[in-house]
Parts: sequence; structure tokens; C-alpha cells
Amino acid sequence: MNDDRRVRITEVGPRDGLQNESVIVPAADKIALVDALSAAGFPEIETTSFVSPKWVPQLADAAEVMAGIARRPGTLYSALVPNEKGLARALEAGAQKLSIFTAASESFCGRNLNASIAESIERFSPVIAAARDGGLPLRGYVSCVVECPYEGRIAPEAVLGTVRRLLDATDGEIEIALGETLGVAVPEEIARVLDAVAVAVPPAAVDLHLHDTRGFALACVDRALSLGVRAFDASCAGLGGCPYAPGASGNLATEDLLAFLERGGWVTGVDAAAVEIAGRLASRLTGRPRRVRSLACDAVSEGESSD
Ligand code: HMG
Ligand code: MG
Repeated sequence: MNDDRRVRITEVGPRDGLQNESVIVPAADKIALVDALSAAGFPEIETTSFVSPKWVPQLADAAEVMAGIARRPGTLYSALVPNEKGLARALEAGAQKLSIFTAASESFCGRNLNASIAESIERFSPVIAAARDGGLPLRGYVSCVVECPYEGRIAPEAVLGTVRRLLDATDGEIEIALGETLGVAVPEEIARVLDAVAVAVPPAAVDLHLHDTRGFALACVDRALSLGVRAFDASCAGLGGCPYAPGASGNLATEDLLAFLERGGWVTGVDAAAVEIAGRLASRLTGRPRRVRSLACDAVSEGESSD
């Protein structure tokens, strides 16, 4: 198989999806969701966050969830970690990859982490050191790469600035994930960001984390693929959203991303039928209809028009 047709999908539903639910999903249900997603064969499932339960009570049960899931060999069970306290909890729970997260916008960083961008990266230093010493892979999210809920449009140079700070803090030993937090970007805007960041990280090494508020995310994926990006995040049933990004809706639905990639001849190694089962479960657990455009016809024929 041509390796250039291979695309890596990180499933972020259990973390990005469930962090934003007003009703807290019980740990046992979260575990069932992660296990259902494991059956699909993702290389990585972002399973939970070791953040302050005062800030995100929905994920206060992170340790219980990590302890309860059945780990599939070949899948990395990763988690968000904002500081030293989160690090201790994440390591004890056996997180296999650590994700630190900051932003291209000072205002968003302030609301999301109660810190400036520089302070956020300072707080990550024990996490960075632990990943290096323990041989754990590390991801660094940069949120608001196109637009911020508080500052509006974000210049691509600001995104590059934050990317450089993360690279400097880690000697380049980090996967950069670009977060289009609001789900409003069009392909041209994503292309501009990728172009600006390319002087530090080539598109082939970037992970793209798209929300899909306006329904343009797949068009952005298409453009990103043409520019060399080969790693995307998605969320089963299109769940997702950040409590500190009002108005943003879910992530790009994994079901849609898979349908798009598979028809286009891309290879993901992810089982779409298993994702659909997991997406239905996510929908039942949250009481939210699936936001899955590629299944709209199925939904109507099954009498699930609200789906
Ligand atoms: P703070 O209030 O400045 O921190 O919050 P603090 O150190 O003063 O701690 C406040 C309390 O929380 C203390 O408890 C700490 O012990 C406790 P108290 O003494 O009052 O009883 N605490 C913790 N407990 C457990 N685990 C921890 C932890 N840290 C502190 N790790 C802090 C700073 C970073 C903690 C807070 O702002 C926070 O947790 N923020 C996380 C917000 C978040 O999770 N947002 C969503 C994820 S980001 C996202 O969705 C975007 C993304 O998807 C990409 C995209 O779409 O763009 C990734
Ligand atoms: Mg997100």
C-alpha cells in the first residue's frame, strides 16, 4: 500500500465530547463508550482530562475511567494534562500519552487555563519533563488557530508564535495539534495557518483538530490533505465543544471523516461499522442526536429524523 494514502485518526469523543455535557455522564457509561471505540481500532483515543474538577466537573472521574477501560493493544489512551497536579493523577492512572494545551489567543488561554500563554507553558514544564523521562509521547494543542470567541480573527503569525513556544519548551519533541476551536473556518483559512506554521512544522507532522459548527470541516480536511496533513481528530456522533468557547459546536464527526476518507481511497485502519455503533451509544448516553451528515439518509429511513 502507498504509505502516502495512510491517514491517522485520533478519536476525541470521550474527552472533547463529554467535557461539554451539561448532564454528567456516569463513569461506567464513559468506560462503555471508550470500550466501544476501542473495538474500532483507533491508533489513539483521547480518553479523558486530568484538569481541575472545579473547572470541568464532567471529567472529575478521569482516574476511574482510565482504570475501568479495557485497553486494546495498538491503541494509545491519552489524556489532557494542564499542570503538575494533573500530571501526578495522569501518571498514576496510566495515561499512555500526555496532551498539554494552550492557545494562539491570550484571552482564550486566560479563560480556559487562568493563565497567559507564557504562564500556561511554564506550568507544563513538569509534564514535558515527565513525558521525556518516561518516554511518553506528548501532544501540544494550540487552540483558536483561526478565530477566538473573545478576540475574533487570529493572525496565522500568532499561531506560529505559540507553536514556536511549544517547540522551544520541548526541544521539538512534541506533536503539534492545531485546534479550530469554533468550527467556523473555511479551507482558505486553514491553508493560511498551515502555510504560516510550515516554517516550524511541516503539514505532514501536524495534527488538525477541527470543530464543525458551520459544516465546513470536511472541506478543510480536503484542503489540508492536499497540503500534506495526514493526522486528524474527530469525535463519534459529532459530540464535542469546549466549555470556555461559547457558541462552538461539536468536533468533526468521526463517521463523516471516515466516509469521506474511505470513498477518497485513504486508508485509516479504523472500522467504520464499529464507530457507528459507538456513535449510537454516545448519542444514547448524552441524549443528543448524532450530528452525522453522512448518515442523514440512514437516519430518515430508520425513522430517526431527529438524529
Ligand atoms: P486555577 O484555578 O488557576 O488553578 O486553574 P489552581 O491551581 O488555583 O487550582 C484550583 C483548584 O483546582 C485547587 O483546588 C487545585 O488543587 C485544583 P482547591 O485548593 O481550591 O481545593 N486543581 C486540580 N485538581 C485536579 N487536577 C488538576 C488540578 N489543578 C488544580 N490538574 C487550571 C488552573 C489549569 C487547573 C484550570 O484552569 C483548568 O483545569 N482548566 C482546564 C479547562 C479545560 O479543561 N478546558 C477544556 C479543554 S481545552 C479544549 O477543549 C480545546 C481543545 O479541544 C482544542 C480546541 O478545540 O481548540 C483541546
Ligand atoms: Mg476541541
